[in-house]
Amino acid sequence: MKFFIDTADLDEIREAASWGVLSGVTTNPSLYAKTGGKLADFEDHMVKICSICEGLPVSAESTAETTEEMIAEGKRLASLAPNIVVKLPICEASLPATHALAAEGIRVNMTLVFSAPQALLAARAGARYISPFVGRFDDIGDDGLAQLETVINAVQNFDYGYWDEEGGPEIITASVRTPNHVTQAALMGADIATVPFAALKKCVHHPLTDQGLVKFAADWKKVVEG
Ligand code: E4P
Repeated sequence: MKFFIDTADLDEIREAASWGVLSGVTTNPSLYAKTGGKLADFEDHMVKICSICEGLPVSAESTAETTEEMIAEGKRLASLAPNIVVKLPICEASLPATHALAAEGIRVNMTLVFSAPQALLAARAGARYISPFVGRFDDIGDDGLAQLETVINAVQNFDYGYWDEEGGPEIITASVRTPNHVTQAALMGADIATVPFAALKKCVHHPLTDQGLVKFAADWKKVVEG
């Protein structure tokens, strides 16, 4: 499974990219707002992310509401850098927009996906990536992982004639909260998990690893001081 980082924070992206494990970045309007970014600086900010992660897909979300506006904004976003992926929420307006953008070779990440029918429609419209959310189900006491499994199983049953040479459409497990979300997504065969930096750091650590490091260091100190 590939790891994307789910943030617009440039420092977090630089740090995670330095680990050599990143295959992409996803952002959304809330994540950009969290950086304190201004509207006027949004496109430059996306270009900076694309430069830090040169050659890796970077999802920049359109806030357009009509098909025409989504197509226009999608083309503008795609023109910012070769690795920009246009993020569109699943809705009646974004299906034809995705179809039109895919026909021009522009990659769309269909987001805010919460069901298999939404994911199947996104794939049929030509989305390069499909982002089923997990954590937001858990936030309301539902079972996000069970929903993810239905999306993965449904989408992977068919071919869609788009992005075949890239192995698309790929499922991006989104709204990830814990290392267990990462584990279960991988066991289900999700192509990608996009993980917030804090959760990514939790994936690196384990209490027994940390305890083992302390013991090794203490025992090695005895060797050194022997
Ligand atoms: C990624 O593409 C999504 O926008 C993101 O994972 C949503 O996460 P959240 O549910 O924590 O806002």
